[in-house]
Amino acid sequence: MAAEGWIRQVSPFIGDEESRAVQRVVASGWITEGPESAAFVEELKEYVGAPYAVLAPNGTLALALGLLALDIGPGDEVLVPDTTFVGSASAVCLIGAKPVFVDVEPDTFQIDLADAERRTTSATKAVMPVHLYGTACDMDAVAEFADRRGIRVVEDAAQGMGVRFRDQHVGTFGDVGCFSFFADKTITTGEGGLVTCRDGNTYERLRMLRNQGRMNSGTFIHPSIGFNLRITDMQAALGRVQLRKLGAVIEKKQALYAAYAEAFRGIHGIRVLGAAEHANHVPFRCVIVVDDATALITHLTERQIEPRTFFYPLHLQPAFASLRGPSSPSDRGFPNAETGYARGICLPIHGGVTVDDVSRIADAISAGLRPTPLP
Ligand SMILES: Cc1ncc(COP(=O)(O)O)c(C=O)c1O
Repeated sequence: MAAEGWIRQVSPFIGDEESRAVQRVVASGWITEGPESAAFVEELKEYVGAPYAVLAPNGTLALALGLLALDIGPGDEVLVPDTTFVGSASAVCLIGAKPVFVDVEPDTFQIDLADAERRTTSATKAVMPVHLYGTACDMDAVAEFADRRGIRVVEDAAQGMGVRFRDQHVGTFGDVGCFSFFADKTITTGEGGLVTCRDGNTYERLRMLRNQGRMNSGTFIHPSIGFNLRITDMQAALGRVQLRKLGAVIEKKQALYAAYAEAFRGIHGIRVLGAAEHANHVPFRCVIVVDDATALITHLTERQIEPRTFFYPLHLQPAFASLRGPSSPSDRGFPNAETGYARGICLPIHGGVTVDDVSRIADAISAGLRPTPLP
């Protein structure tokens, strides 16, 4: 097999500047939430264009915090697309509500609102559009659906830093918008998250819920029940450096995506996912759809290229077996989420990938997709 070394699926864009920023915080002696976190949240608000925001320990807890702030809990149902990271749904379970899985669109793999309509009940309190793989859900259609049903919108923008729909940043359309800064995200703090919102009451609830039921630390009188969902100034300092690099990171990702698209031109049997309508594209991965993902993944892995499958459909997850009820007559199953898993592949698109790597990956794919010659 190729002796060129592994091309890994993920690798954060971090360097000496991030190390120095963390060291400065450690040397300052203030390592819990403090000035760096306050500055980070202000900078994030400005970047995404949100009137209010709070930091969270990770994307999953950002979603749970957002749901709690909207008073969603036991007895309530939340519509969640079937193709997404498990954290979108486990956040719903964490706050005691029930995720109801919804099929995705065949072309974009974003939430299918016609299916969401079929699965809406009197217990449905929210819909969770997930902006998947670096582009956006149709937020006009989501708003229309939620308004008509009188339900809340909890945006999962975990993968959506830099992504815009009609020039508005994702995560700022819904009642709350949630981001992740895990190490494979467009900017990272190691672990970390953000919740944005548009109204002052929700903001107050977010602040109380994340800080032990009080607006500010330094008092032991707690007007309501809350938790510790804060982060540290070491993470915030790292994140502030990352935010300054965001433009360069987006440029690099888009250049690699263009190199992939060019290299795939002329290869039959491959569809490359890009920007959705009215949205831009900050590729989270280079996402392709082929006939048989399993065979191509084996072929690439043998050549020291690390691909990933799509997310495993949530309705098939062993973890959620207890949520499976009898299907109603209008239940059409989840054909698109299942097709995505059978046919979708994520290719690496990060700071460690070069244009030569892209050529190597494209050559390997071309060889892997070539029909077997007849004997
Ligand atoms: C779509 C989506 N939602 C939620 C999450 C959860 O974020 P975290 O890993 O920071 O908890 C992720 C993380 O990969 C994600 O991709």
